[in-house]
Amino acid sequence: MNRSIPAGGGLALRRDVPRRVVARLRRYGLRAHVLGLLLRRRLAGSGLILVMGGWHLPEIDDRGGRINVGSCAFYPGVRIECWKGASIRIGDGTFLNRNTEVVSLGSVTIGRDCKIGRDVIVMDSDQHELPGGRLVIAPVVIEDRVWIGARAMVLKGVRIGHDSVIGAGAIVTKNVPPFSVAVGQPAKVIRTIERPQPTARGPRLEAV
Ligand SMILES: CC(C)(COP(=O)(O)OP(=O)(O)OC[C@H]1O[C@@H](n2cnc3c(N)ncnc32)[C@H](O)[C@@H]1OP(=O)(O)O)[C@@H](O)C(=O)NCCC(=O)NCCS
Repeated sequence: MNRSIPAGGGLALRRDVPRRVVARLRRYGLRAHVLGLLLRRRLAGSGLILVMGGWHLPEIDDRGGRINVGSCAFYPGVRIECWKGASIRIGDGTFLNRNTEVVSLGSVTIGRDCKIGRDVIVMDSDQHELPGGRLVIAPVVIEDRVWIGARAMVLKGVRIGHDSVIGAGAIVTKNVPPFSVAVGQPAKVIRTIERPQPTARGPRLEAV
């Protein structure tokens, strides 16, 4: 997405900040923002995080990795686990629904504006080696605007292309191309999503 601000628009955007801050507080509440600020302290870098819902607060288990999270929403029970030397990056506008777990021993990247459904698991290794084998760690990339249905699993070495949908309960073991709907165990593409036509509108200004 083009995030550039039109010429002369910067000042207007800054003047608009207080109004947008109030609108955001009204919409999501003070609690979500305060809990987000507390969570933020445990991350290598972050935007404005919202912690939504009940009291099973999101958990950050950083074992010596690097976790960067944009302006995201986390729901109760989310768990982010990042091992020594590993990285987790999550882009702006993405939300992680209830009980989602992201486990990285190497690298997990989740793009912008993704919707990660409840009870989803994303992991870039099997966490244990097969008998007589070695532990395989392979990066996972979930590109922008991907929607992952409830209880899906995304396993090591997978790239899910932007604007794709992963069905509830899917087990994703292979790459999924952009604009695809993939379902099942293992997940297979069942159809392609029509690409939106380019519009004549200018760039969208981001909310606070
Ligand atoms: C993937 C999904 C979006 C597809 O919806 P849809 O376009 O309406 O799909 P349809 O119901 O037309 O199903 C198309 C085919 O895929 C199958 N299918 C759909 N979803 C499936 C799934 N999750 N797993 C396995 N098969 C699935 C259907 O049985 C159907 O098969 P058929 O052609 O043999 O009859 C939807 O089924 C889904 O899984 N949504 C996720 C909901 C969710 O978890 N939301 C997040 C809450 S936190």
